[in-house]
Amino acid sequence: MSIDTRIFRITDNTFDEVIKEASQIIREGGTVAFPTETVYGLGADALNPDAVLKIFEAKGRPADNPLIVHIADRKQCIELALDIPEMASRLMDTFWPGPLTLILKCKTIVPYITTGGLDTVGLRMPDDRIALELIRCAGTPIAAPSANRSGYPSPTTAEHVIQDLEGRIDAVIDGGDTNIGVESTVVDVTANIPVILRPGYISAEDIEQCAGTVHIGYTDRQITGNESVRSPGMKYTHYSPKADVIMIEGDFSDVAYAITGLIAEYYEKGQRVGLLVSDEVARTVSADATFSLGRGQDPSQAARSIFMGLRHLDNENMDLIIVDGSITNEGVGTAVFNRLRKAADRIIKI
Ligand code: TXA
Ligand code: MG
Repeated sequence: MSIDTRIFRITDNTFDEVIKEASQIIREGGTVAFPTETVYGLGADALNPDAVLKIFEAKGRPADNPLIVHIADRKQCIELALDIPEMASRLMDTFWPGPLTLILKCKTIVPYITTGGLDTVGLRMPDDRIALELIRCAGTPIAAPSANRSGYPSPTTAEHVIQDLEGRIDAVIDGGDTNIGVESTVVDVTANIPVILRPGYISAEDIEQCAGTVHIGYTDRQITGNESVRSPGMKYTHYSPKADVIMIEGDFSDVAYAITGLIAEYYEKGQRVGLLVSDEVARTVSADATFSLGRGQDPSQAARSIFMGLRHLDNENMDLIIVDGSITNEGVGTAVFNRLRKAADRIIKI
């Protein structure tokens, strides 16, 4: 596969022209990567099966893993969803546009390839000017998974997208770094009680406050074998750099001490070690490369850094990446831990 991938840079002067050209590519059945407030998505016309197929091919994504459909207004939601329960409407009122994907029963207008053969569809109204204008100008809902090669960390910059997908997609809109850094919270609202299938920036507490109750339907473990899952994405390897990844969980001082020991062990074997750690831990240990997760008490900084950090350390050809599991595991920290645990080949709890 080698397509000439166009790169559109957004500035105040180019905005209208870029949206015009990119939306035309979408309308003609092509693929365009674009920023959202969470991560970059790889978009195509959600209602055009040939266009959606190109997303699966470019990413190397398993065919049974459904795509999130991005919409710009509530009218599109009514066109796609069979039925919108009252509780789902309330969640939309509260969190849209924003990093919340709602799983709803869908109408037959949504092709099977988009839903991975399910009778439900994930809908999300992103809180990003570029994304919203692109959807509006395309005049169609846009299916968009994260714009990475399947199994790799999600992209938070246009450079990440280019690294993974150049030559495989029609265009990338470079709108700078994304704000949130981890993907949307995915909530199944097809039954009476909302079920969180993937944690994100919007926390279980946020959902509970709005909907009254909430169930947790995900685990941070890698799913193996024939375990049945509520969301096909749960079965697949995620966020996985080429280097080995070890996450160490515990109190700050215990984690810092354990990291020192682990570095010594790998240095003895002549291997290169990279650290993905809080500023506090970075002050007490050093290795071949360090990428900061920010202050250990500020999970939103960690959210913005984890995917960039995993990619950066991988590009530096580390044999081992050690991840600091002493950072805060609350609020968006829950989503950070979920992604880091899934990225880890081994988790050490102390
Ligand atoms: O923030 C985000 O959600 C980003 C940006 C681009 O919007 N998108 C994203 O898409 O993370 P993706 O494809 O990487 O992850 C979508 C997740 C997958 O785990 C998938 O299995 C799940 O949502 N999903 C999508 N439709 C579903 C459905 N109908 N039922 C259950 N799970 C679904
Ligand atoms: Mg993804």
